[in-house]
Amino acid sequence: MKILLFGKNGQVGWELQRSLSFLGELVALDSHSENLCGDFTDLVGISETVRQVAPDIIVNAAAHTAVDRAESEPDLARTINAAAPAVLAEEARRLNAWLVHYSTDYVFDGSGSQPWVESDPTGPLNVYGKTKLEGEQSIVQSGCRHLIFRTSWVYAARGGNFAKTMLRLAQERETLKIIDDQTGSPTGADLLADVTAHALRMARHNSDISGLYHLVAGGEVTWHGYANFVIDFARQKGITLKAQTIEAVPTSAFPTPARRPSNSRMNTKKLQAAFDLHLPDWQTGVERMLTEVLEKQS
Ligand SMILES: NC(=O)c1ccc[n+]([C@@H]2O[C@H](COP(=O)([O-])OP(=O)(O)OC[C@H]3O[C@@H](n4cnc5c(N)ncnc54)[C@H](OP(=O)(O)O)[C@@H]3O)[C@@H](O)[C@H]2O)c1
Repeated sequence: MKILLFGKNGQVGWELQRSLSFLGELVALDSHSENLCGDFTDLVGISETVRQVAPDIIVNAAAHTAVDRAESEPDLARTINAAAPAVLAEEARRLNAWLVHYSTDYVFDGSGSQPWVESDPTGPLNVYGKTKLEGEQSIVQSGCRHLIFRTSWVYAARGGNFAKTMLRLAQERETLKIIDDQTGSPTGADLLADVTAHALRMARHNSDISGLYHLVAGGEVTWHGYANFVIDFARQKGITLKAQTIEAVPTSAFPTPARRPSNSRMNTKKLQAAFDLHLPDWQTGVERMLTEVLEKQS
């Protein structure tokens, strides 16, 4: 079994290097890899890479994830988020390989308050969401065997994340203003990687499982609730923080180039049923990540 992983050093890619390593021989690339092309702006190059490696499974963790920057560089975002996945899908179909791809709650317009199901109409509000949706669509249309996981609010212990930013700000400032009208579920890159490995093991023996799935941790929270959770947890662990007031503010308080959806809730019943899985509440993973972060700080 040969697995070809793109985007090996992103939040999810890094965890996939761990979780996929025991499924088979893993060839992991990033945009700077030297012997094989892993750069998604080189569409011919990545197509040649797939042909050369001839994997049984392609996993795509690479993406243009800079949501605000994508507004001013839509062509680059489209190449990375839509054109490159289309090339991988075409190559996967030719090889009869599986393609695993990650997408986002940003394919939805964020209306209402119900968790989105996979069949709900899409309506992205920004370039990132539009290009990610185009990527999904080209994979489905290619006819290759695929697992597309739409997720949201991804964090990892490695690198920067919202929780770490909150810890830093709470050490520096007495008042924090945090958005309280966007709701979603913080989802660990480790959870995504572990579910991916589990799903692939099942998919190998059951092609009918090919499809699009929502994959987020259980429960829901606003950014404001998330910030409070992080700060309370740090205080319980004896960390001294300056912050006294965590003020809830609307999205309009922080204008950004890209509009963001208010409702990022995702219904994961389809995934849980298809793969016989339980998804832990978001607090479980965030507490674990915070424990690692705080241990490193002390
Ligand atoms: N982060 C979130 O909150 C979130 C939410 C929903 C869905 N998702 C989806 O989840 C997946 C994984 O996201 P993540 O959080 O792990 O993102 P990430 O940490 O930003 O990693 C993205 C990876 O893509 C790579 N990349 C960027 N441009 C590239 C190019 N031209 N060629 C090849 N690789 C390139 C980056 O590598 P370099 O740094 O070397 O360029 C990086 O390793 C993506 O599909 C994303 O759309 C993420």
